[in-house]
Amino acid sequence: MELIQKLIGGKMLQKAVFSAPDGQNEISRVDLRPLLIGSAYRYQAEERRGTQVSHKNLTPAEAASYMELSLLTFRNAVLFTPDCDYHIIKSKKGKVSVLRKPPSNPEPVEARAHDREKNYFFPDGVHEEFLSALGITDARGHVHPTRRNKFVQINRFIELLTNVLDVFDIDETLNIADFGCGKAYLTFAMEAFFRRVGREARITGVDVKGPVLDECAKIAARLGVGGRLGFISGTIQNAALPNKPNLIVALHACDTATDDAIVRAAATGAKALLLAPCCQHELQHSLQNAALEPLLRYGVQRDKLATLVTDTLRALVLESMGYQVEVLEFTPAEHTAKNVMIRAKAGGTRKQRAIDEIAALMKHFDLEGFYLLNSIAKIKGQNLT
Ligand SMILES: C[S@@+](CC[C@H](N)C(=O)[O-])C[C@H]1O[C@@H](n2cnc3c(N)ncnc32)[C@H](O)[C@@H]1O
Repeated sequence: MELIQKLIGGKMLQKAVFSAPDGQNEISRVDLRPLLIGSAYRYQAEERRGTQVSHKNLTPAEAASYMELSLLTFRNAVLFTPDCDYHIIKSKKGKVSVLRKPPSNPEPVEARAHDREKNYFFPDGVHEEFLSALGITDARGHVHPTRRNKFVQINRFIELLTNVLDVFDIDETLNIADFGCGKAYLTFAMEAFFRRVGREARITGVDVKGPVLDECAKIAARLGVGGRLGFISGTIQNAALPNKPNLIVALHACDTATDDAIVRAAATGAKALLLAPCCQHELQHSLQNAALEPLLRYGVQRDKLATLVTDTLRALVLESMGYQVEVLEFTPAEHTAKNVMIRAKAGGTRKQRAIDEIAALMKHFDLEGFYLLNSIAKIKGQNLT
């Protein structure tokens, strides 16, 4: 249908709803809306079968074909655009009529696509089993008000994750280690994300809190995802992983735990890392610089500077290992104070420059060494998978 091609091609479609299925169609309703996955413009089709809801993410071309097909199997469709709503009705004899009605929502589609919350991978109000099992949403998919920060963080994490996927071959299995996974909100989110986008992923959550992991494993079994998502009780340094990880995640793991995750990447040659450092104390008392003494005099200021230097050294160490590195805002500061993410993926070109910069920064702050550098030096030559 020319109208569909025009709306999809021109990014004019705010939403499409297909209802009143023909006799043989087991899907009772489809809601389709534009969605940003990272920077990619996609459409998400939400299909209802009885009380079950499932999702498909489609490229624009796939979305156009999907809609054409849906017009054959549903008798009613409404295509919402900022200019008008198109009501497409098919009579019992198969005669199709298209009515134009005033727009339900005259807001431009571009604004909706850039509105982060409306384009979340796991939108509010759409049932997603793991979110409900972990108590983030109710059974109908509505976010509990007290869990909104976690909900925002989960969606932002998925956005940040999509950006590292280009370093993996399209059919490459992702072996993911989530170090310091805690209650595994983000671990479950990765499993649901990769399942939905059809990528093979084996995910292992690692934490020292065995009883918490036992609960996570029970939830994974209940959700039927235990084959893709497992948990190991142990330390980031020593946990024996079932597979050599090619993607390493360590989010809000305390103090030098972020460094231990980088050391595991050095030992295994992971292709990408997503790290959100937390409560780092190591350099608080060792930074020295006469010219910067006023910045180091007051406790709160000293902590902030130490955090900045620590994360910069981590970024440089990752660059010296051959990664391209970005330091980004994880969750907006209004949702949590722990809002920095270090994202690294293979393909960096600053190895030698980073080595020189590490040496210069250490000299500047009179540092003889630091935990990450010392640990990497120690594992060189060892096989720590
Ligand atoms: C603040 S929680 C973060 C949980 C989860 N990653 C998140 O962001 O929602 C930090 C977790 O890291 C774990 N952890 C800290 N250091 C660790 C280490 N060296 N080895 C294993 N787990 C560690 C703690 O037990 C805790 O569960």
